[in-house]
Amino acid sequence: MDPAVQVSHLRKVYPTSRGQKPALDDISFSIPPGRVYGLIGRNGAGKTTFVRIAATQLAPTSGSVSVLGMDLETNTREVRSRIACVPQESRPLYFLNTEEVVYLYLKMRGMDAVEARRRTKDAMDELSLTEYAKRQVSRLSGGLRRRALCAMVLASDAEVLFLDEPTTGLDPLARREVWKAVRRTIREHRTIVLTTHYLDEAEALSSRLALIEAGQLKLEGSPEDLRARVRYPYRVMVQDPFPREELEPYGRVSKVEGGHLVFAREADAREVARKGLERGVRVSLGPVSLEDIFLEVVGKSIEEDEPAEDGGGEAYA
Ligand SMILES: Nc1ncnc2c1ncn2[C@@H]1O[C@H](COP(=O)(O)OP(=O)(O)O)[C@@H](O)[C@H]1O
Ligand SMILES: [Mg+2]
Repeated sequence: MDPAVQVSHLRKVYPTSRGQKPALDDISFSIPPGRVYGLIGRNGAGKTTFVRIAATQLAPTSGSVSVLGMDLETNTREVRSRIACVPQESRPLYFLNTEEVVYLYLKMRGMDAVEARRRTKDAMDELSLTEYAKRQVSRLSGGLRRRALCAMVLASDAEVLFLDEPTTGLDPLARREVWKAVRRTIREHRTIVLTTHYLDEAEALSSRLALIEAGQLKLEGSPEDLRARVRYPYRVMVQDPFPREELEPYGRVSKVEGGHLVFAREADAREVARKGLERGVRVSLGPVSLEDIFLEVVGKSIEEDEPAEDGGGEAYA
């Protein structure tokens, strides 16, 4: 099947950026249709830049992106009619109420009134917005506004949906509702490109992922592909008391609350688990999480912000 999005040697250098460090540095990958594709990376990694380029809002410096087999430059209008986007920063029309914002968005995309009304109602129900239907958007909290934007886009009939950090600022319950709506959208054979810095979200929803760090594509593939690329694909937690020296030869050991965590190859992880059990301490063994993979590949947690660029600040005399 043709990819929903094809990215080749994409590069973006913002004209204003000091030192010309690229926001995206020669990245290539393809996004298969009908799935959730997760784009993960720390703040400043280049996720939003990618989404803006793929959603035809920003021109690349070089390289190309095609969406549904169409080149963005030559088919801009057609691409726009077949995609939808929840941008990271967004201001829905404040003077409308929640229901109107969703309905008008669908109408503007060319949906007929009956269908638009039905889809508006369904999306409002799905994201628990019904009680806010008549409330002016300017009076909604940040989280509700975010949900209203998700409702607009998920209610649309777009074939490729870009969701840039759709659940930032949402409480856990609201996040789950967005996840449910995302899964429903996928059952309709549509494609979702999801950027997030919540790795549990990326792991729960994505069938493939790209990990970007400082504009570079560090890892790409299914969760299993990603796991296969790291040195230690298994983690085993061994409860105290168990001497650390005995764990060291098996892999990377770190002290955690109540015991040690060992990152190791599968056979070694099993061996560690067996030893722990022989000693009668509690063990838990499993494949590494996306968070573990991220830490290993990037060397920093996803929550850590990118340091400010050299010379980025104003100097005082
Ligand atoms: N409009 C802009 N002008 C100049 N630099 C920008 C602009 N937008 C983003 N950047 C820079 O590009 C890099 C990538 O940013 P962004 O794509 O927003 O990352 P993310 O969405 O992963 O946090 C950052 O270093 C950011 O400071
Ligand atoms: Mg961003």
